[in-house]
Parts: sequence; C-alpha cells; structure tokens
Amino acid sequence: MTALHNAPIKIGVLFSSSGLTAPIEQSQQRATILAAEEINAAGGINGRQLELIFRDPASIPNRYATMIEQLIVEEQVRVVVGCYMSSTRKAVIPIVERHNALLLYPTFYEGFEYSRNVIYTGATPNQNSVPLASYMLSNFGSRVFMVGSDYVYPYESNRIMSDLVFEQRGEKLGEVYIPLDAGWESYLHVAQKIAALQPDFIFSTVVGTGISHLYRAFAEVGMNPYETPIASLSTSETEVAAMGADIGEGHITAATYFQSIDSPLNRKVIANYQRRFGDTMQTDTCWEAAYFQMHLLASAMTITGSDDPNALLNTLPGLEIDAPQGRVRIDEHNHHTYLHPRIGRLNKSGQFDIVSESAGWTPAAPFQISHTLIDAETVSGPAQGGARG
Ligand code: ACM
Repeated sequence: MTALHNAPIKIGVLFSSSGLTAPIEQSQQRATILAAEEINAAGGINGRQLELIFRDPASIPNRYATMIEQLIVEEQVRVVVGCYMSSTRKAVIPIVERHNALLLYPTFYEGFEYSRNVIYTGATPNQNSVPLASYMLSNFGSRVFMVGSDYVYPYESNRIMSDLVFEQRGEKLGEVYIPLDAGWESYLHVAQKIAALQPDFIFSTVVGTGISHLYRAFAEVGMNPYETPIASLSTSETEVAAMGADIGEGHITAATYFQSIDSPLNRKVIANYQRRFGDTMQTDTCWEAAYFQMHLLASAMTITGSDDPNALLNTLPGLEIDAPQGRVRIDEHNHHTYLHPRIGRLNKSGQFDIVSESAGWTPAAPFQISHTLIDAETVSGPAQGGARG
C-alpha cells in the first residue's frame, strides 16, 4: 500500500468558536471530535484515519462562505460538517455546489431547501414545530406570542406556527424579532410586553446568547413558567447550562433528542463524551445530530472506500444507523433524515423531562407548504434505543 492509500482523510469542520452562536456550535464541534475519535479508535475508514481541519467563522454568515472555500480549495477537503444558523448554511451552499463538495448540516431548520450537495440531519418543521404546536395548543391554549431572532429561520418557523395556531382558531398576540446582537434591555422590553398581554404560551425561536437574556427577562418580570411557559425549538440543555437551571425550569422545548433519553446507547455515548470532555458537559439535539452524522458518514466512506462526494451522495441516501435518539435514516429522495420527535419540559436539574414522544421515527417533510395538526405524520419504525458495537 502506498503512503497515499494510508493518508488520513480530511474532513472540514465549520463551527464557530466565537460570536453569538459559539456555545451551541462548540457543542456540535465536540460531538464531531468525539465521533471522529471513536471512528479512528475502531480502525478508521478501511485503515485510514479521519483528520479534522477546523475553522472558526465567528458566527458571521459570509465568513462561513470564505472559510468553506478555503477548506475546499486550499486544504483539499471534499467533505465538510458544520453550520448552525440557516443564514450561514445558505451562505455556503453555492460554494459547496460550485466545487461539488459535500456538506453535512446537523441543525434543525425551516425546510424548503434541497441541495444535491447537502445532507440535512436536523429536524424539519413537521418533526418539531408540528408536535410542539399540537402539545401546546391542547395543553395550554391558543393565545400565542411569538418571539424570534431577526433572521430567516425564525421568520419561517413563525409562519408555520401561525398556520397551526389559526387552524385551531387561535390568536397571535404579537410577533417580534430581536436583532441577534441585542442586549438585555431589548429582551426586558419584550418580556414586559408579553407580561402585559398574558398569552397562553410564548413561542420562541430566539437563538444564541439571546436565549439566556429572554428567559432571564421572563423571570425578571415575574412570569410563571408553569402557567405561561416559553415553548421553543432552539433552547437546549447547552443554553440552559449557560442561563442556569433555575431560570429554565418549567419551560418547554420540542426536539428529536434530549440528554435525558434513557437508552443504553445514549447512556454509553454520554459517558464516553463526559470522560473525554469533562463530567459536567451537556449534550443537546444539535450535539446529537453532529455526532450521529459522523458515524453515518464513516459508514458511507467505508462502503465506498473514498471521500468522493459523488460516491458518498450515492451511498448516504437510504443509510440507517442506531443514534442516541433511536434509529435514524437518510431519506432516499430528499436528503433529510427520519427522526424521533419529542417534547421536553425543563426540570430543576436543567434536564428535560420527556412529556411526549412519537411512537416511531417520523420522515422529514421539508417541502410541505401548509402544515396541519390533522395530518401530522408518524410512520411506524424503530423506536429509540439500539446499540452500536
Ligand atoms: C437555524 O437557524 N436553523 C437554527
């Protein structure tokens, strides 16, 4: 075997370690490192080790674009994992397509996107917004206040949530977008407005460091999460660790993974993670997608014997794996992933008590124009659990 045949396979890693979304992206990066180390310890890809090449785009969309081009052109990387905010994913896709590279994107997002060169491993609205609307509207009421960060993902999420609320004859009391870099005063102002309007619940798609401000402001104005919870798609264990469990307690999130999932594989992966990165480390839904997508990628690379994006794009669709959330599968047709929707309510320890979960996996429906609570689709499939080697 020549040296080249034994050469490491480079994977670009594009998660921010600075800027507004650094905490959640660093969680995704640690998951990527953990999975790569597991793959390498098990012999790599047909004997070749994975080598991760990191860049820090500082949570700024056009830096993701510049840096992914550097990774592809200068570092000769053909596969990149990364991006959290949809604005950052949208910034890199033209470059990924122009170079016929492959991006694996491990974050829930708004749907309405397909790229031949992207595999999406986070939830689409039918896998998180629809179950959340169903749970909130039947348990809390239908007078809703919507608050999000000022960019594409919250706009689209609120459009979908509005349809679901109106379908149930509900009322939208307000829809507010807060700049990504806004400070405490902006959140306090919104919380005062919410307290005056007394909605049944708040729907939040605030991301990044603003999450902590929002929940603190909510507490500051004296609202009770057990009466008027914030229902979110973006508040995970990692943001709760930053804001403090006492501030998060009682609030609700829809996600396809929670750290609290009680399965042998989840317990094992968390133990490995905490041994590697420290025993106070949290996991979260973006962490989990970043983790399992590396194992899916490794399976595809082992089958194809290469990091050629064309070969991988022929192999990844239809591939399945036991992930910490349960068995997941890349859809053959739309490049998105069959996942396990859940609703969690935060407890005193900063963990989610799972109050509702789908019976099996739910295929992604990224192109559904009009979502409805009437046809929320759950196809029977493997439930959570399972064990990888
Ligand atoms: C997101 O912007 N997809 C969280």
